[in-house]
Amino acid sequence: MAREFSRRSFIKGMTAAGVVLAVGGCMSWDGKNIPEKVKTGDVTYDVLIIGSGGAGMRAALAAMENKDLKVAVMTKLMPTRSASTMAQGGMNGVTGVTDPADSVESHVFDTVKGADYLCDQDAVEYFAERAGKNIFEMDYMGYPYNRQADGSFHQRKMGGSSHARAAYFEDRAGHAMVHTLYEQCLAHDVDFISDCQMLEISMSGEKNDQLNGVIALDMRSGNLIGIAAKTIIIATGGYGRVYWVRTSNPYSSTGDGIVAGMKIGIPFKDPEMVQFHPTGLSVNGVLLSESSRAEGALLINKNGERFMSKYAPQKMELATRDIVARAIATEIEQGRGLGEGIHAGVYLDFTKIPKERIQERLGQVADLSKRFAGVDITEKPVMIAPTCHYSMGGLEMADFHTGASRVPGVFVAGECSCVSIHGANRLGANSLSEVLVFGHTAGDGASSYAKNHPYVGDQKKLMADCSKWADSFDEVTTRPHMGNRTVPEIRDDMVNTMWFKCGVFREGKQLEEARRELAKLRQDYDKCYVGDSTRVYNTAYEQYIELGNLLQISQAIVEGAIARKESRGAHTRRDFPKRDDVNFMKHTLISPEGDHYKIEYKDVVVTKYPPKERKY
Ligand code: FUM
Repeated sequence: MAREFSRRSFIKGMTAAGVVLAVGGCMSWDGKNIPEKVKTGDVTYDVLIIGSGGAGMRAALAAMENKDLKVAVMTKLMPTRSASTMAQGGMNGVTGVTDPADSVESHVFDTVKGADYLCDQDAVEYFAERAGKNIFEMDYMGYPYNRQADGSFHQRKMGGSSHARAAYFEDRAGHAMVHTLYEQCLAHDVDFISDCQMLEISMSGEKNDQLNGVIALDMRSGNLIGIAAKTIIIATGGYGRVYWVRTSNPYSSTGDGIVAGMKIGIPFKDPEMVQFHPTGLSVNGVLLSESSRAEGALLINKNGERFMSKYAPQKMELATRDIVARAIATEIEQGRGLGEGIHAGVYLDFTKIPKERIQERLGQVADLSKRFAGVDITEKPVMIAPTCHYSMGGLEMADFHTGASRVPGVFVAGECSCVSIHGANRLGANSLSEVLVFGHTAGDGASSYAKNHPYVGDQKKLMADCSKWADSFDEVTTRPHMGNRTVPEIRDDMVNTMWFKCGVFREGKQLEEARRELAKLRQDYDKCYVGDSTRVYNTAYEQYIELGNLLQISQAIVEGAIARKESRGAHTRRDFPKRDDVNFMKHTLISPEGDHYKIEYKDVVVTKYPPKERKY
């Protein structure tokens, strides 16, 4: 069962069941963002995927290989506007095409070393064995790779890789991927439910482990909808917006799926492992791809020095992201940067790269630099600084062979999940490969689960959850101002707390302050003023929901960071500057417990590579 829930439909349905609600009117508009059968309640999906990025759409294609299954992708955006679209550099995989000397073993080792040994090595092996195949699959689907003279795709060498392993389309690798997958989904009749913000995963049963479906807000009408599903795949991407203006992520990266997953009992694994990409535009955090440095761009400080020789003498600009980001932050801190505060930076210099190559391979980087920083990179360097880019942590994937979480019928894939293959630091171009490999795996896993299990959900509970959200919408959006703080005010404070107290460098005292400040912001949030009670495209309410998610994610990051008393990968504690393999070769698992988070740990899986000191 799936049914659109409006005030009117709820009154109709529940009055028959003897329930009377005092509710106001509802303005409804019949857009085409939702298939009719969802509105009328005539469908229970076998596989409902939340999120239309690379992972979500690859999962849908895998699930659709079972022709008799009903599969849908739901997104709060338009399907081609996901964060994957903003990925620039490429997708790693060993193909033997550009560099015959590359090997799966080398991909595994680079990934494990890059991860500072916090990844599960059995999962990395599974990933690297499949990543190359996915590059060929995308070729068959029509991905417009940059090609070599003989027509085969070209691969470039990204940070921390020993070989040229990343296949790409210019510096718009993710954009091309999302469009290629979307075309295939349309060709295979996947249903799309767009402009729908997920609010909750509805569960029932004594142990609260029976999946009813998903509650979402239809942004176009303001109606609450309950969509019944036998299985769901959470593929909602990351949460870079906890750092708001210091992130390369789109406004939509607010961790919605992670928060919804935590609420039904899936732990948030390694939340403290946040990746800061070395080269965001210092003016606004927008990404300038690592492929810039792969193509020869240099990092230069205020004194004209190519400073990476001090930090990573062998790999220089192509050391792993954690190392390069720390190097830049150190240069700025020690007075060798330019500019002030959150917008301080160093130079990224493209002027030694031939103009034709910039045009052929770095067109977007050139465009973004011109558009946002007013710099023509063929003529002069542009100012950059670290920017929050990626979450290595995410919802625990309990079985990497199926994408299953520990909650029956609920699967996870992509950046919102933690497999874990990236550990404490992800390599450039391992993310697009991950979404393909584990999107595929989760699509297979969920469809096979759906074939072998009946729907066990409770449709009345699904509707009751809709009703609860309808009431909450009214309560929140009609709150009087009374001097209460607003969403932008709280968000600004959250960002300052996160960037300055839980950023590239961290320290116990500041993390404790961050914990207190976030707790206070949560109190402000509970009574915050939204100020718009209209129904059609109520983005003020949507931002309120997203801010609630961001605050919960921020708290989890800070709790994980306080507890991990070591420095590993992207997590750098000034008060614990060394990696501690005796006490911290383990994953953090965070779950809500009342108003607080409880922390548990799980050992890292080591197969071939015991931890060693990393040198680049
Ligand atoms: O820098 C980049 O192009 C980013 C790539 C990635 O995160 O994989």
